Amino acid sequence: MKRMLTRSGGTWKLGGVAALALAAGCGTPEPEVSWHKDVSPIMQEHCTRCHAPDGLGIGDFTDLDNVRTFSGRIEARIDEGSMPPATSDPECRDYLGSEHLNLPEAKKDVFRRWVELEMPEGDPELAPELDLPADTLEDADLVLQPPEPYQPRFEDPQNPGNEYRCFVLDHGRDEPFYVTGFYPIVDEPQLVHHVLLLVTDESNIPSDYDPAVGVDCIDGNGIGDISGMIAGWAPGMQPVRFDDGRGIKVMPNQKLIVQTHLFRKGPEVDGLTDRTGWSLRTSPGVATEMLMVPLGYYRFRIPAGDGDYTYDGVERGEGPIELPVSATVHAVFPHMHVLGKRYALSVTPPEGGEDTCVVEGDYDFDNQLSYVLKEPLGVPRGSKINFSCTWDNSAENPDQLVDVPTEVRFGERTDEEMCYAFSLVSLGLPD
Ligand code: HEC
Repeated sequence: MKRMLTRSGGTWKLGGVAALALAAGCGTPEPEVSWHKDVSPIMQEHCTRCHAPDGLGIGDFTDLDNVRTFSGRIEARIDEGSMPPATSDPECRDYLGSEHLNLPEAKKDVFRRWVELEMPEGDPELAPELDLPADTLEDADLVLQPPEPYQPRFEDPQNPGNEYRCFVLDHGRDEPFYVTGFYPIVDEPQLVHHVLLLVTDESNIPSDYDPAVGVDCIDGNGIGDISGMIAGWAPGMQPVRFDDGRGIKVMPNQKLIVQTHLFRKGPEVDGLTDRTGWSLRTSPGVATEMLMVPLGYYRFRIPAGDGDYTYDGVERGEGPIELPVSATVHAVFPHMHVLGKRYALSVTPPEGGEDTCVVEGDYDFDNQLSYVLKEPLGVPRGSKINFSCTWDNSAENPDQLVDVPTEVRFGERTDEEMCYAFSLVSLGLPD
């Protein structure tokens, strides 16, 4: 029996459990923390949806040698909390897929301990069975993609390596229908940072719209009515299904729009094309119609150079909003542009008292998600809706588009901002 587990040039330190196993004399001990048993599962549950050969992030975290090579940078990013990318705080509320979107402290400790132990491989037999999120909507009945593959041009000088492309998707239905589930079809994961689904009236489509190339856009820019945002997706979000007779109505004269944020992670993606679209599950009728409420502010003025400016609508008479009817909230989709830093949406009961948190977290333009509430939230008439957006309009913000920051107001352009909490609601309280 080996007293020390050696690796080329290094020595495994033995953890408490391994030392005990040795003392008991039961063969080659399994390290306290190993790749197969502990670390590979963490990577698969939280990282490889982006950090895999066909993914958007760098490296291949399905591979032990790769993770060993990147371990220093991984530890630095999990220490500072910048990986995985920020999402709504699970302490605020439980969302569909929360368990995969955030990395709990205990798992960070497992990774740190593994590095301390010099990253042992361990026994592949001990790899646990994992329940990983699905990446298709199997029961989709309406699949919409742009007619031709599109090769990004990345020619926006203000925002190098980034392109926001919109395509009009024709649902081809001549009767109203309801969307009861959605999930994007991500055609080229190496290019696609995030995907939005918008809806607009046919009359908004410009007559010179070219279906082969779509249009350069950030929020529709003329082809999308921003009040018609339906969903946002980033890698890791699960397929959404409203299984209890609920759906979002789409009219025959409306068009769906896919907005894809294409990202040039490096020269290896040059020449790749993309045909990302959406798969939808639909129904001709539903018991409960869900409405997309564009809860948002329009009068904010983000001061030039302010690195932490919060607007809650009160200053200019836009908030808080008093709810005129009772409603149930099913999902919320916070949306700002590239200066967005934090958002918070909460509800104060009609009689006053403690606020209920709905979504709250650090905002990352590159990781926009629809937060589907695991438990729909009833909001009685007369409740106050408190919503705030925080931006970083300083010169130090790496996402800042200009050298000398200027005051920023509401608008659709990349260098303008938004402050929305698009909310999927139904009328009345939950049964
Ligand atoms: C939603 C996609 C996504 C997920 C999930 C994700 N990453 Fe990333 N990661 C990226 C992208 C994109 C980059 C490159 C941009 C950047 O550095 O922020 C990146 C960069 C990194 C880097 C920096 C590499 C360098 O060049 O220094 C590290 C380290 C990292 N990620 C680790 C992780 C770990 C660990 C996890 C899981 C706990 C994780 N990431 C989850 C998308 C993701």
